[in-house]
Amino acid sequence: MWDDWIAEASAAREAAGLTRRLRPRGPDDGVVDLAGNDYLGLSAHPDVRRAAAKAAMLWGGGAGASRLVTGTLTLHGDLEDELADWLGQPGALTFSTGYHANLSIVGALADRTAHVVSDAHIHASLIDAVRLSRAQLTVVPHNDVDAVRAALAARPGVRTLVLAESVYSVLGDEAPLTDLAEACAEHGALLVVDEAHGVGVHGPGLVHRRGLAGRPDVLVTATLSKSLGSQGGAVLGPRAVLDHLVNTARPFIFDTGLAPASAAAALAAARISRARPDLSDTIRARVTGLAQTLGVPAPAGAVLSVPMPSPEAAVAAQANLLAEGVRVGCFRPPSVPDGVSRLRVTAGAGVTDEDWDRAVKAIDVIVGDVR
Ligand SMILES: Cc1ncc(COP(=O)(O)O)c(C=O)c1O
Repeated sequence: MWDDWIAEASAAREAAGLTRRLRPRGPDDGVVDLAGNDYLGLSAHPDVRRAAAKAAMLWGGGAGASRLVTGTLTLHGDLEDELADWLGQPGALTFSTGYHANLSIVGALADRTAHVVSDAHIHASLIDAVRLSRAQLTVVPHNDVDAVRAALAARPGVRTLVLAESVYSVLGDEAPLTDLAEACAEHGALLVVDEAHGVGVHGPGLVHRRGLAGRPDVLVTATLSKSLGSQGGAVLGPRAVLDHLVNTARPFIFDTGLAPASAAAALAAARISRARPDLSDTIRARVTGLAQTLGVPAPAGAVLSVPMPSPEAAVAAQANLLAEGVRVGCFRPPSVPDGVSRLRVTAGAGVTDEDWDRAVKAIDVIVGDVR
């Protein structure tokens, strides 16, 4: 019974051009990598590598326990203080992934009696978080503040969370954070902003840049695995909210603390990021230039999405680029909220100007052939 069921699912995926395969890569395969999320190129920075290695030697390979048992290290405190200070927040709490951070904030604040208003393009981790919370859910069209206001007005007096990403991962556009925060304030709702693609690419993130950091009704989640070149996640906001998470968030309580090497790497990367605003300037210049070359809108973040006519065309273009020594990503259903397959090109600061220029030429030719 199970064999048939799995074989049928596999055949359906194959027929739709949606089969995914893992493609292991070596540490340095000579390919220009424009597929990853290491936006500032800090994962390979010597200070980041050294910090990770030193922490592993000092603390060992893992935190050894969940945070409430013996898995809270002074290193976690150092990282949390640094992140809070950088992002202009009263406090921070770190998690073993950004996924856990999102599951935790929604799960700890929302239950069956709460209402969640979610943008239609929100990340899978937040979708899963709402499902686990069993909260009443209203999905609003992408970046539609009027729809958010209407959803808030429809359930007066109900504890409500509004979920947004500062920079959307697939579309690459920016949320109207100021308007969303205003709508939330009018209705006593909390705004939760996932800054996975904002922090680092926009220095301390867009919540900070829009003057919303430190507001008690605007909470931030972040990942340590993209611009910070490490692994892990964080929730930032008022101490009372963080204490509530420590006491109630199951993905925090029942999970081993962030590994020392990851915490130390993220801490080193945050310090470099703060000292090197030129890295985010490089991203802006590259992403704008590439968008012009391809005739698509420039995104707010580091990732350019290039719509393709079909999943097969996207996969073929990706393979042709790899043959030219350029690795790009590929979004296909079910990873795209609107069903449109796309190439995903990261305009990171981690590649040399020479490699970047070569990659842009290859992308221009190969994408031009297909579209
Ligand atoms: C918007 C968004 N939120 C959360 C996450 C999860 O972060 P992590 O990879 O640290 O689990 C991601 C990463 O894929 C993301 O793009």
